[in-house]
Amino acid sequence: MKLFDVYPLNNITITRAQGSQVWDEQGTKYLDLYGGHAVISIGHGHPHWKKRIEEQLSKISFYSNSIHIPLQEALAEKLGKVSGKVDYQLFLCNSGAEANENALKLASFHTGRKKIVAFSKAFHGRTSLAVAATDNGNYRAPVNETNNVSFLPFNDSQALEDHFSQHGNEIAAVIIEGIQGVGGIHIAEDQFLRTIRQCCDTYGAVYIADSVQCGYGRSGKFFSHDYAGVQADIYSMAKGMGNGFPVAGIIISPAIKPKHFQLGTTFGGNHLACAAALAVLEVLEREQLIDHADKLGNELMQALRQLTPLENVRGRGLMIGFDVPEQWGALRQRLLTDHQIFTGEAKPRVVRLLPSLALLPEEANQLIDALKKEMALYPIT
Ligand SMILES: Cc1ncc(COP(=O)(O)O)c(C=O)c1O
Repeated sequence: MKLFDVYPLNNITITRAQGSQVWDEQGTKYLDLYGGHAVISIGHGHPHWKKRIEEQLSKISFYSNSIHIPLQEALAEKLGKVSGKVDYQLFLCNSGAEANENALKLASFHTGRKKIVAFSKAFHGRTSLAVAATDNGNYRAPVNETNNVSFLPFNDSQALEDHFSQHGNEIAAVIIEGIQGVGGIHIAEDQFLRTIRQCCDTYGAVYIADSVQCGYGRSGKFFSHDYAGVQADIYSMAKGMGNGFPVAGIIISPAIKPKHFQLGTTFGGNHLACAAALAVLEVLEREQLIDHADKLGNELMQALRQLTPLENVRGRGLMIGFDVPEQWGALRQRLLTDHQIFTGEAKPRVVRLLPSLALLPEEANQLIDALKKEMALYPIT
């Protein structure tokens, strides 16, 4: 059997990883500023994370959600404490799309309404409702087409207010990434998030903060929506939550009261996933990685802004993007092949940096040195 050809691949096989370094099968070392797409939060192979999973593996790795799983309660309590959302309820699942799918579905159950507001360039995942709220027709199959989702311009408060004043009583939810990831690192302005909160309050709609990529401390706050001082009704999370172990979830404000069988899962919240997720929170707290991400991210952005060929350096914490001039179109590939640095991308010419929150300053400098070498070798004319 052949593998389904999902993505274009780099011709590299990674066999070992530690912290922000990964090694291929020839022993070549790479700096990982991509984090396997924002997944590696506390660093590859963190000893505490490995120990937690190994210890759990030797006890029990899975049993269904028909019994008490105290690890889930411990995770809910710890997540409430670290995120500051103490009175929210946690529903556990397995991926970011599934988290958003459940968030949207719950919003519809809660309001009894069908309409969703999403924004230009949004990415919320590939399951049916999540992809319907994703602003990219290439990801939607005909069966995913629906007229229940309206795409409004990102960061346009007036357009949002106008839409609510016409359709407010039909809207179940507004879903928004605090910082758009796949869309190219675009920050939702604080005032825009506050307008979403106001509109949702006025018309009884649910505010869903998609924090799958920008959450879990990556932005320098636990949720990037926290910068605006707003409380969303539901936060979805995944990627950094398990540091590579598949685990995801939504946290739900106390105003929403789920009923039995509205949501459900077989694998969600299994023992191993909870052990991995607890280890991540323990390390985030113990090593103060959220403050570290904030500080190092600011320093890295300042250093990148000194490099004149790079345009629009932007982001928060360790979620950073910049535009590459046309002449430097091959930059990402050269960073990988000539400097052994993994980065992320967004179309058309955005480099995305999504490293571990435990990235070291000297590792951040490695990128700056590589970019300076590129400037000397390929001056922009
Ligand atoms: C903001 C956002 N939401 C949802 C998802 C979907 O997550 P998953 O791939 O785990 O389903 C992603 C994935 O990139 C994402 O960036």
